[in-house]
Amino acid sequence: MATETSQHAIDTMLLEERTYPPTEEFARRANAKADIYDEDFEAFWEREGRERLSWFEPFSELYEWEPPYAKWFIGGTLNVCFNCVDRHVDEGRGAKPAYLWEGEPAGERREITYADLQRDVVRFANALKSIGVGKGTPVAIYMGMVPELPVAMLACTRLGAPHTVVFGGFSADSLSGRMVDMKCEVLITQDEAWRRGSTVPLKQTADEAMGDAPGVRASVVLRRTGNDVPMQDGRDHWWHELEDGVSDDPSSCPCEPMASEDLLFLMYTSGTTAKPKGIVHTTAGYLCGVASTHHYIFDLKRDEDVYWCAADIGWITGHSYIVYGPLCNGATSVLYEGTPDFPDKDRWWEIVERYGVTILYTAPTAIRSHMKWGPEFAQRHDLSSLRLLGSVGEPINPEAWIWYREHIGGDRTPVVDTWWQTETGMVMITPLPGVTTTKPGSATKPFPGVDAGVFDERGNEVGPGGGGYLVLKRPWPAMLRGIFGDDARYRETYWSKYENVYFAGDGARIDRDGDFWLLGRVDDVMNVAGHRISTIEVESALVDHHDVAEAAVCSRKDATTGEAIVAYVTLKGSAEASVEKLAELRDHVAKKIGPIAKPANIVFTPELPKTRSGKIMRRLLRDVAEERPLGDTTTLADPAVVSEIQSRAASGSSDEV
Ligand code: WTA
Repeated sequence: MATETSQHAIDTMLLEERTYPPTEEFARRANAKADIYDEDFEAFWEREGRERLSWFEPFSELYEWEPPYAKWFIGGTLNVCFNCVDRHVDEGRGAKPAYLWEGEPAGERREITYADLQRDVVRFANALKSIGVGKGTPVAIYMGMVPELPVAMLACTRLGAPHTVVFGGFSADSLSGRMVDMKCEVLITQDEAWRRGSTVPLKQTADEAMGDAPGVRASVVLRRTGNDVPMQDGRDHWWHELEDGVSDDPSSCPCEPMASEDLLFLMYTSGTTAKPKGIVHTTAGYLCGVASTHHYIFDLKRDEDVYWCAADIGWITGHSYIVYGPLCNGATSVLYEGTPDFPDKDRWWEIVERYGVTILYTAPTAIRSHMKWGPEFAQRHDLSSLRLLGSVGEPINPEAWIWYREHIGGDRTPVVDTWWQTETGMVMITPLPGVTTTKPGSATKPFPGVDAGVFDERGNEVGPGGGGYLVLKRPWPAMLRGIFGDDARYRETYWSKYENVYFAGDGARIDRDGDFWLLGRVDDVMNVAGHRISTIEVESALVDHHDVAEAAVCSRKDATTGEAIVAYVTLKGSAEASVEKLAELRDHVAKKIGPIAKPANIVFTPELPKTRSGKIMRRLLRDVAEERPLGDTTTLADPAVVSEIQSRAASGSSDEV
């Protein structure tokens, strides 16, 4: 452990030495073999572009890079819906399920084949045409996890209408802000959504939002729960009425030829304080990037696998790895409407067993919830169909990784920890399951054709072991094409720290084997007595203790050390909080990392504050630790959690060293 004030941008101290090489059997059948890394970057993407996508007009130039803007597959024309739906039917796979949908209410199930999907999309695209949606019409979509959500997205792409999907948990203000920013003319929504046995009033929220977004001239409303909702004459249309008598024959609504660089969708990401950024994704590069990564990383065997990405389509993960990547590859996917703990905490495992899921992709936050609930829920079900597990969204603590592999993957399945962002569109740093020797907590290597690195403040590469800033050094097909309507902010956010190099905003280190370890957002790095310590390392040391399910750490000001570490800890179901436990946890961190990383305070709490996409909000924890008024709480999934933590912190269930 270092004792002097360090020179590194971020100090790294936690050592994880377990390794998992791929089994021979997995490696032999894998889509990606070791030589995939030998291929030249241009040759790799050229081949992927030509082979993975079907073109109306092939591209003439691979890419053009005028920093900070890239263009890919220049001169080509294609259609996303054609690639995701029509071509599979044309090639004789119409009877293959695209989605195995499970509603949240008991017993609601639907199988949607590629032929069904084609009919549904054509019918709905024709319905949209009847209210004036065509090439270039901006459309907002505000729905739950129903099959009609991908149908609506695909219908837009069929017509060449760019969409923005707004997560169904967002408020009227968030929805209207996005619709105004994108100048949306049409909104697609539903009466209500099911969530944990109760209903979420989507149409009511949409009405409020449309009140503040006068540019929205029409809405289409899917009947989902069947409860009464107000409909405004001339503006609001029932989905089923608009489809009445409309053709579902593909020739009645041909796929619009789109240029490679035509706008496909905007996905808004909320910064912690500022206005959300409309991240721009275009047609060909995005589709190629997500299809290619999906094929190699998830090792998809199109005709054998049952793939399940248990995210929400309202986030980029759902766009890329529930809708566009898997459909482009002709996969069969599970689509689940509800929450993991309804009606009971084994719902996911029941689904895995029922459909024989072979590939599961989820987030560390979900894995840690399952850890907290205990492995007995998974043990009720036969999970032997699983052959590959994936993780995304946050750094995964080594113990959570091991738990996932052991209790869900039966200690057989590879685990792929995939690093990427809304902005990158596709996975960027990841193991390839038949090639990479994985390490719990490491996202391992850049995907073939991706050039990533770790820089110090001044833009020099940081050597093995040292922590710094994660950067991407050359363009990639699915990269963002800017922030919608805000060139200055695009340049400032991603391209001002280093020249012509993309700054991701995450800390990372590369070990001696060239494997990447993600250290969390750089804004969360703590400075204790001159040591720049990443939150994830202390959190992982805490989660390494057998009684801890989840931990979040942040820093508060301290007179002697500059900053002191405060930890918020959730214990596993049966464990009890006590003064002895506090001392034990502190010692555990000292043993795993070093005394410098010992939390000054520990607060036990049953829940941590998270965003609706499951990321821990350390900014709020800092406010609590410093007894400041709380900053913006609108993106919190459950605002009650913070007041609970505030009162626990104040009532002395925390402890000072
Ligand atoms: C974090 C989600 C560590 C990271 C696809 C990134 C991760 C942000 C990982 C993007 C991972 C995502 N390991 N951190 N495997 N995956 N992140 O835009 O901080 O919702 O910058 O995209 O999540 O979040 P976003």
